[in-house]
Amino acid sequence: MKILGIETSCDETAAAVVQNGQIMLSNVVASSVDLHAAFGGVVPEIAARSHLESILPVVQQALTDASCDWGDIDAIAVTYGPGLIGSLLIGVMTARTLAIAKSKPLYAINHVEAHVYANFITDAKQSNYQLNKNLPQFPCVALIVSGGHSQLALFSNHGSYKLLGQTRDDAVGEAFDKVAKIAGLPYPGGPSVAAAAAGGDPQSIKLPISHLDNPYDFSFSGLKTAVLRAAQELVGETYAFASAELPGRLNSRQVANLAASFQFTAAKTLVKATTKAVEQFNPKSVVVAGGVAANAELRRQLDLSLSPKPLYSDIKLCTDNAAMIASLAYFRSKIDQPADVNSLSPQPSLTM
Ligand code: KG4
Ligand code: ZN
Repeated sequence: MKILGIETSCDETAAAVVQNGQIMLSNVVASSVDLHAAFGGVVPEIAARSHLESILPVVQQALTDASCDWGDIDAIAVTYGPGLIGSLLIGVMTARTLAIAKSKPLYAINHVEAHVYANFITDAKQSNYQLNKNLPQFPCVALIVSGGHSQLALFSNHGSYKLLGQTRDDAVGEAFDKVAKIAGLPYPGGPSVAAAAAGGDPQSIKLPISHLDNPYDFSFSGLKTAVLRAAQELVGETYAFASAELPGRLNSRQVANLAASFQFTAAKTLVKATTKAVEQFNPKSVVVAGGVAANAELRRQLDLSLSPKPLYSDIKLCTDNAAMIASLAYFRSKIDQPADVNSLSPQPSLTM
């Protein structure tokens, strides 16, 4: 079964064709990230306009790369939430229109749940992907960490999961993006903080790990504020000093130490909760998903702490893509009915 996936929840316009949930025949991602960089974050109106311009060429490219025409496609899958309303609308309306015009069933997919399914892609037409060799096994603990989400879930089967915990405030990727801003590093903050951290000492600045009633919940807002306070102190100022002026005062050694200490502590926070879940639920697999799963320090700490060893998808599949949407749709198609092509609407605040 070949499924065309469509993803437009944030700033990536993506389409992909995946066979039987596992074999990635194509994966096309057009990002508007460069347009947002000047603003230090995603501008929803710019993202939506950019999706509108890119969506049809991206879908066509996904079919071409997969050597498919419409006759080869068995179903269409689309992200219907969570995400930015203007962005989701472009994907959902395009998918509905194509499903009607080409007479295909349409599957409505939860973006956060789909991140986990990057780990179910075990084969690809292109050889430049580092994929898991085997499918994750159930029960499976999933750590889902991205710019918009930080969740820990226990999957007992496809479509059957329990949310163990989540962030109480900022998502961890959001914290990377905010720390980048404090330190004067470019957006998106994940890759730029990781690069700056490579030259710093992770023990140089003591930062707090949150302790919450639910051991599987996270909090990153306090950590971000602690980084701000540490930066103010490093330049000899008080908490009243404007954060916008910090980048001009911090030297590169201080930036590297702030980045390294923050990254180390953020990763430790995630590892602590994940280790506890693995001890309690004794899963057959642990998967790590979402944009922050690309982080090498997080992977290093998780590998040291966890048994079974966690599974990670290729870095290109950690960040937003449509292959994960098509993969989840295949497994969901075994248990769910298709969506109504005439009424499916985006749900910006969809939860797991
Ligand atoms: O999954 P994703 O592409 O979009 C959302 O669903 O949010 O994740 C984007 C997030 C951004 O916050 C970005 O800073 C972060 O993932 N990210 C990273 C790395 N690469 C991307 N965070 C830490 N280390 C990285 N190497
Ligand atoms: Zn995402």
